[in-house]
Amino acid sequence: MSDSVTIIDNRTGERHELPIVYGTYPEYGAAIPAANLRKIKRSESDFGLMTYDPGYTNTASCKSSITFIDGEQGVLRYRGYPIEDLAGKRSFLEVAYLLLEGELPRAEQLADWNWHVTHHTIIHEKIKRFMDGFRYDAHPMGMLVSTVAALSTFYPESRQIQDPEVRQKQIVRLIAKMPTIAAFAFRYSAGMPYAYPDNDLSYTGNFLNMMYRATETGYKPDPTLERALDVLFVLHADHEQNCSTSTMRAVGSSHADPYVAVAAACAALYGPLHGGANERVLKMLEEIGNVSEVPKYVERVKKGEFRLMGFGHRVYKNYDPRAKILRELAEQVFAVTGKNPLIDIAVELEKIALEDEYFVGRKLYPNVDFYSGIIYQAMGFPTAMFPVLFAIARTAGWLAQWQEMLVDEDQRIARPRQVYTGADERHLD
Ligand code: CMC
Repeated sequence: MSDSVTIIDNRTGERHELPIVYGTYPEYGAAIPAANLRKIKRSESDFGLMTYDPGYTNTASCKSSITFIDGEQGVLRYRGYPIEDLAGKRSFLEVAYLLLEGELPRAEQLADWNWHVTHHTIIHEKIKRFMDGFRYDAHPMGMLVSTVAALSTFYPESRQIQDPEVRQKQIVRLIAKMPTIAAFAFRYSAGMPYAYPDNDLSYTGNFLNMMYRATETGYKPDPTLERALDVLFVLHADHEQNCSTSTMRAVGSSHADPYVAVAAACAALYGPLHGGANERVLKMLEEIGNVSEVPKYVERVKKGEFRLMGFGHRVYKNYDPRAKILRELAEQVFAVTGKNPLIDIAVELEKIALEDEYFVGRKLYPNVDFYSGIIYQAMGFPTAMFPVLFAIARTAGWLAQWQEMLVDEDQRIARPRQVYTGADERHLD
């Protein structure tokens, strides 16, 4: 048996043998290097075959050793560890280290990593003034996209993307400063004075401090909520080649600095089909308003009037393992915050949808966004902040993928092809 496929071109009768490349194991992924298709042509002058794949539904854009997803089985692993082993058992910063470095940190590595991230949380005072220029009702995600991009002008050395030390410094800065910018965006829209970081607190504890501290001197986050947010961040930390990560890699492939690349990734995340979905889930649940209205709503979805937000996934054709963890986490959060009444509507919606042929037949299951918004809302986050929270966590994955791309010798500037469908050559009369 040879690791190749043979294609017969029925236009010419020629046979072409194309090699196959594998992942760690054949069942973890196999692909035909697309460039080899170019030799399949009708004549010497012919361009040769390409693949046509809008939305990259079946195109491997890279080799990666960071995250593994088996969508059919509902499996998600970071660097080989199942998400269930990490969520609640390792902190977000440990998981960020794992994604970036390939291994969980030893005690002294973790202490060093925590120290560096903690000591880069402050942002330049001019950034604050920059943020003051937004309209009073600016969406915090729009503020985040622009402000992260603006960081590029404060750290011009970040353009030296080939220098590993420079890269590492920007990675620390980005992971450290994203919560600060996010919290400042919230405080700005709430008309509250900015709250500065507190180095005595954990990563998520400090974020809650910057979000919610009022006049007290030492803000003490509720330990259950601090842990819940940490679990949420772990669940959102990476998800292999999704829309925003592919954007990070595409922008990074032109050797742009990591701040503008993360800003682009944030912009991709903002859309309602990606990180903006949890905001829409909440709007949807509020619109349904009552458990008794769920069947009617589902019927309208089936008629194609709109989609059930928080349902369906390009890769998972089984229950999203993150959604399972979140359903349990919701109960722990509600024990502190009181129950979010929207959970009853969500549970009913899930029950009805999972029994319905429309959703079963299309393998549409709840995804991570279905329950995350309900938890965020119970914790006091306004809906506009939901994609911002997603962006804080996903920054770890974006940076791990960016770094992997930069040192991968196979990678070149992202530049897809097209199948041209316009006019043939023509001339002015
Ligand atoms: N509600 C109703 N029908 C749906 C839904 C949904 N949420 N999602 C897919 N379908 C139907 C779709 O109409 C199509 O049916 P048909 O074959 O009859 O035309 C079929 O299922 C396949 O859909 P698709 O659009 O080809 O699937 P896709 O892989 O391109 O889209 C998706 C994936 C996540 C964009 C889509 O499922 C969706 O729009 N979901 C709602 C938005 C959402 O929850 N997004 C969060 C994704 S998870 C977190 C993240 O990535 O950020």
